[in-house]
Amino acid sequence: MHFASPLSRLTDRGLVQSDSFIDNAWVGSAQRFSVFDPATGIPVAAVANHGAQAAELAIEAAARALGAWRAQTARHRCAVLMKWFDLIHLHQEDLACLMTAEQGKPLKEARGEVLYGASFFEWFAQEGRRIYGETIPATAANQRWLVLKQAMGVCAAITPWNFPFAMVARKVAPALAAGCTMVLKPAQQTPLCALALAELGQRAGLPAGVFNVVTADGLQSAEVGKIFCSHPQVRHLSFTGSTQVGRLLMEQCAPTLKKLSLELGGNAPFIVFDDADLEQAVEGAMLSKFRNAGQTCVCANRIFVQSGIFDVFVARLTAQVQTLKVGNGFEDGVQIGPLINEQAVAKVQRHVEDAQAHGAQLLAGGMRIRDLFFAPTVLAPALPSMMCASQEVFGPLAPVFRFDTESEVLAQANATEFGLASYVFTRNLGRALRIAEALECGMVGINTGVISSVEVPFGGVKQSGHGREGSRHGIDDYVEMKYVCLTDKEL
Ligand code: SIN
Repeated sequence: MHFASPLSRLTDRGLVQSDSFIDNAWVGSAQRFSVFDPATGIPVAAVANHGAQAAELAIEAAARALGAWRAQTARHRCAVLMKWFDLIHLHQEDLACLMTAEQGKPLKEARGEVLYGASFFEWFAQEGRRIYGETIPATAANQRWLVLKQAMGVCAAITPWNFPFAMVARKVAPALAAGCTMVLKPAQQTPLCALALAELGQRAGLPAGVFNVVTADGLQSAEVGKIFCSHPQVRHLSFTGSTQVGRLLMEQCAPTLKKLSLELGGNAPFIVFDDADLEQAVEGAMLSKFRNAGQTCVCANRIFVQSGIFDVFVARLTAQVQTLKVGNGFEDGVQIGPLINEQAVAKVQRHVEDAQAHGAQLLAGGMRIRDLFFAPTVLAPALPSMMCASQEVFGPLAPVFRFDTESEVLAQANATEFGLASYVFTRNLGRALRIAEALECGMVGINTGVISSVEVPFGGVKQSGHGREGSRHGIDDYVEMKYVCLTDKEL
């Protein structure tokens, strides 16, 4: 069968870039790696495969650009970021097509992610103008005590494949708004969105070296990561990805004591009490579990349902899951695209087999449909001894656990090394707040399965990482405080 390249859908071909972007120039390489459309398996681009040397060049460019960028007024930086924001909006459709082509998510979700990503530019363009310092009443009459907030310096970012646009935007926008410069290594599976963003940054008038993108395949990524972590001029590293890689990066950053923002794995409990609005709870579970085919860090990973409504909840969830349309993200009405690669499919399959071996019943899906497409799956009753209780599935699998009491479910919900998102469904407001306070996590959705937005602090506790992205706090990671003790006889 012949497949036309999905990139032929783009109207602005200048957005399709395949070289690294360093010091305002596209830098090629004789060695290249393929980016595949996960829906068809066809290569859509051959991207420059760079390593340590390019990473160093990018850091040097960012270091050269730092002085002038940091010295600009916040208002000037705001104007450049707002121009960038406008260009992202203007090219929403092309960016969404690029995303579906390299990541596989349904086009409708990709369009939403472009707007979500753009919102970080708008928000942090303005937040950069509100990085207020402090004055502290001094205890000596001839002194004034000031706290300045200054840009950290050169920042590095390593971003994941599940949100190839928004996760880049969530790091680049606050860093640049604060006056930092940045080097980025996007995921090897999905570098095209990041490169398109660099192209739009250039069009928005970003000075040379302020934003640099180094592309690399799986092997070279490790080399680039090592340079980002060890280079003395890099002051901050922001990473979104697995806890395992986060630990490694933290170790590599230790000798140069870099500041770290880590948004790592999750194992979100989704708790439904007997008194919940059933329809709302099922809808919340569908949204939380199946967005991006279950490939989000905040996905409901363990669905806990109280005994009184367990059977009816499971029946309604199963019925809804069976209506989900699986297919190529470019096809109309598709809700579940392919998984990112073979390992992802194999992992979901392992979880299904393990749960069945431990006595869970397969109520929907449970198998690969074809290629990287996995049927949306429901398993019940799930048990704490199953793999799906302790590991992030990262796929379209909904395991449903039964519970009786509030204390029992709270203990189970917190029995994980992770602490990113949690969800609670109940009409009892007192209980909702009590549980929200007791859950060991960074974010709680009450009676909703969707919690992300630029205005709120996104991040986790325990081994889900530290630091917060988005909200008025998201810029804090890119500034440091300087205390100035001003003394003068004349004061
Ligand atoms: C993530 O899964 O890492 C991000 C999801 C979001 O921002 O909603």
